[in-house]
Amino acid sequence: MVFAIVCVSDRCSQGICQDKSGPLIKELVSPLGKTAEYILVPDEKEKIEEALIYLCDDVKADVVLTTGGTGFAPRDITPEATKAIIEREAPGIAEAIRIKSLQITPKAMLSRAVSGIRGKSLIVNLPGSPKAVRESLEFILPVLPHAVEVLSGDTQSCGGNYDSK
Ligand code: MTE
Repeated sequence: MVFAIVCVSDRCSQGICQDKSGPLIKELVSPLGKTAEYILVPDEKEKIEEALIYLCDDVKADVVLTTGGTGFAPRDITPEATKAIIEREAPGIAEAIRIKSLQITPKAMLSRAVSGIRGKSLIVNLPGSPKAVRESLEFILPVLPHAVEVLSGDTQSCGGNYDSK
């Protein structure tokens, strides 16, 4: 499985602080595959869209994970940028993250994160803090291999209507 990471942060992209969440994502996904690209962008809708389109269409990452910019701050725009470039919504993943996260902190309701599909890439928004990244990602990681299998057209591996597996 090929991953790509987008860190969305004005402060990190200006060099005022260092991104800790991107490296953490890379570490957490390493048992499942390699991280092909890591891109750092400011909280600007066009820049986020550009990065996401590049990672889906050119890099052809199976899973693109963004971190940051999902909250209520005036410049938080990651969900809008994601919605602008996805072709199909995959709301269950963002919903699952929020449900799970709400068991840990009520502040989880402040994440406006979305998830969706562009081509054969799955895009998932994660909040910005390393704590939130760990809590969110650990919950969805076990489902990603199957998500990618089905996305690539391998419906044989799905339960339900099929006899095998
Ligand atoms: N989700 C989990 N699992 N753990 C957290 O600590 N923090 C919340 C929320 N989601 C949090 C979480 C907080 S405080 C905010 S403001 C929102 O994510 C948005 O974060 P972002 O703007 O950094 O993306």
